[in-house]
Amino acid sequence: MKIAKILPVFAAFALQLTSITPVWAASPRLSKGQKGMVAAAHPVATQVGLNILKRGGNAVDAAVATTLAISVVEPFSAGIGGGGFLLVKTKDGMQALDFRERAPQAASRDMYLDANGKVKSKASLEGHLSAGIPGTIAGLAEVHRKYGKLPWAELVKPSIEIANNGFTVTEVLSKQLWGKKDLLQKNPAAREIFLPDGQVLRAGDKLRQVDLAKTLRSVARNPQNFYRGEIARAIESDMGRNGGLITQKDLQNYRPIWRDPLCGKFRQYQVCSMPPPSSGGVHLLQILNILGDTDLVEMGWHSSATLHLLAESMRTAYADRSFYLGDPAFVKVPVTALTSPAYGALRRQEISLTAARSSKQVQPAAWETLRRFQPGAAVENPIQKIPALPNVKESQDTSHLTVVDRNRQVVTLTFTVNYNFGSGVVVPKTGILLNDEMDDFAVAPGVPNAFGLVGGEANAVAPGKTPLSSMSPTIVTENGKLRLAVGAPGGSTIITTVLQITLNNLIYKMNVAEAVAAGRIHHQWAPDKLLIDPSGFDPATLADLRQRGHIIEQRDYWGNANAIEQLADGTLQGAADPRKEGTAAGF
Ligand code: DON
Repeated sequence: MKIAKILPVFAAFALQLTSITPVWAASPRLSKGQKGMVAAAHPVATQVGLNILKRGGNAVDAAVATTLAISVVEPFSAGIGGGGFLLVKTKDGMQALDFRERAPQAASRDMYLDANGKVKSKASLEGHLSAGIPGTIAGLAEVHRKYGKLPWAELVKPSIEIANNGFTVTEVLSKQLWGKKDLLQKNPAAREIFLPDGQVLRAGDKLRQVDLAKTLRSVARNPQNFYRGEIARAIESDMGRNGGLITQKDLQNYRPIWRDPLCGKFRQYQVCSMPPPSSGGVHLLQILNILGDTDLVEMGWHSSATLHLLAESMRTAYADRSFYLGDPAFVKVPVTALTSPAYGALRRQEISLTAARSSKQVQPAAWETLRRFQPGAAVENPIQKIPALPNVKESQDTSHLTVVDRNRQVVTLTFTVNYNFGSGVVVPKTGILLNDEMDDFAVAPGVPNAFGLVGGEANAVAPGKTPLSSMSPTIVTENGKLRLAVGAPGGSTIITTVLQITLNNLIYKMNVAEAVAAGRIHHQWAPDKLLIDPSGFDPATLADLRQRGHIIEQRDYWGNANAIEQLADGTLQGAADPRKEGTAAGF
């Protein structure tokens, strides 16, 4: 090759290397506490939760109040117009609550296709048709009904005040508003709130949401007010005027669902996470099973050998995800097989320790294979053709929070409006910003969603169905005692983020601040790329991974995770991701 040809390549490579260690990578923030701890994505929300704990509220009370506060101060990420999942650990055991959005009754399989069968651009991402039936308020009310201690209205009160009196816009929020200016501009109610006088709010400005405060006051009186009466009528009529599908009946019929958490053994730990309709628990356990009893310490933290094994394990799991995962009320998901250690061991045998496979060489397991690990697992999802490999777009939404109280009750909760500012639709006079969670369905087999994830029949749209998620609120216990509670945003990268924080903490003995701050990798089978966090990966390691055949791409956005761990002496240590503005606070 001529030198003139080599130089630009070398320059690009050198440039990539020089941008490898951002400042935050070296400055993890660790909070300690004995009685309780809250970790959330915004300091105002963390403080709301901490105040509730200090007033004698339990983890559920604090989680409810923190979730509502996030809904006010982080409108781009999550809110009462969206939905989510939580795991709660009490003295009676662990439970999972699914308060994810559901497809309206009028939804249909091909609703995002035009007359020629082509996917209509952005129809599942923007505007009224992209919204699923919101579940946040129903979910919070349900977990509070079952486990809460303080009166519901007291938990809503701080958020009413923040919405009504306003709060200071941060850099993060201002940037988000810039990024979605055009979308918000299109919706009169959104414009009025988020672009007052047509201007994007800047850091330091005040954001008041008086309509949202009014809605929260009504919800404080009775959470069911979200699902019937004036608010439900406002949602239905806005939908009717704008080609949306959600009706009062859909809202009235919305129910959160208690589910058994999905748990597996990893070394001396019990790892529990969210079962379907999230794919989080299945694939977190699957990857841990593929890693099996490999001596990861011996292999070395962030060594090319370890990163290679992680990447290949992720590739396998996301191949299975694309085919088998969907709402269990509609499709048979072979959860037992996919999470069985023996199946993990089988998939491990397919991985070469020296060479990367191309994603085309890695297929979802055959039903016949899975039936060996789950006798009777039924063939229900027709064979799909393996799709073309799409590109992943970036997004910075979704919010995770983690709470532990003095009795070591735990809530780990991830909720979202999906893409930044969801559908961009605010229902007039309610301040409710609606989600665009319908994009988490496979709008057509093999057509990637906003996170580049592909799916098949198992995740096709149907009335009342729940779109497949990656949200992975996770609790790790050791001898029945809390060891680690963790979760993250980041779309398709949520599962691998939670995986790596868990390994950093449990296997590599990093504290939660170091574990959360550390650089991450991600592989999701399609596209066939190994995404690398620009922090802390040694150039020689990256070169070695390339040598093994990985197609490496730097990704600058990674979800702002948070986590709380309990040390052997009962001390709590918490940390929010230094990548963004969250905080952990304990007492
Ligand atoms: O449920 C899911 O998996 C997605 N709707 C989450 C979206 C998300 O995390 C966006 N984040 N950065």
